[in-house]
Amino acid sequence: MIFVVCNEKGGSGKSSLAQTLAVYLKSKGNTDPLLIDADPQRTTAEWAAERADSDLPQIPCVELTGNITKPLQDLKNRYGSIVIDCGGADSKAMRSAMAYADVALLPFRPKRRDLKVAPGMSDIVDTALAINSKLKIFSCITQAPTLPSQGYRILAAKSLLESLDLKPLNHITRNLNGWDDADESGHSVLEWQQDSKAGEDAKAVFDELMELLDEK
Ligand SMILES: Nc1ncnc2c1ncn2[C@@H]1O[C@H](COP(=O)(O)OP(=O)(O)OP(=O)(O)O)[C@@H](O)[C@H]1O
Ligand SMILES: [Mg+2]
Repeated sequence: MIFVVCNEKGGSGKSSLAQTLAVYLKSKGNTDPLLIDADPQRTTAEWAAERADSDLPQIPCVELTGNITKPLQDLKNRYGSIVIDCGGADSKAMRSAMAYADVALLPFRPKRRDLKVAPGMSDIVDTALAINSKLKIFSCITQAPTLPSQGYRILAAKSLLESLDLKPLNHITRNLNGWDDADESGHSVLEWQQDSKAGEDAKAVFDELMELLDEK
């Protein structure tokens, strides 16, 4: 299965989610994931390189830009699953990945400026669906405020994403330092022993995603 994690808004949590999803898939044991860094900023490639120097379970990573459909066709036969981390802008790599992937996961922070790009992303999704009808779309609220009094922001963001057919997952990731801290030496929040809260969020998000995919 090919997952593409994308959103043209920078900093929404794409690289963090893509890396953690690859670790999650690897931990399931029945799939041999490949990470594709499709962002010239190389966040995920650098993370994977640091991880390669550690004792953690290894996850191969390749860097691709431009139209990545053809390389995806080749790589699909060699890996149990592929997770693509796109850059924080509309790009040929993002559109070509969506044209071939099985699942698109769109992270959104529940903030005005992030949600402003949601209609544009919905249009890009529609264009992708016109050529790739098997593509399943989900969005995920990330870096959500932890104060209960701010819960209305999460509900409002979910409601907007729902109205745009971007299928927000019920589970979210809270704004927790564990995401930044776990980055050390190529760890993921799922493996970060010092603080398990961020990892619990990630597991809940991916468990829900896999359950929904099993149902479809
Ligand atoms: N749930 C979270 N809580 C707190 N910090 C987070 C969370 N998710 C990600 N971050 C942090 O936010 C920053 C941006 O995350 P990330 O690099 O994953 O975003 P991105 O969408 O890939 O950015 P870009 O568009 O630049 O590629 C990082 O410092 C990351 O550690
Ligand atoms: Mg990134």
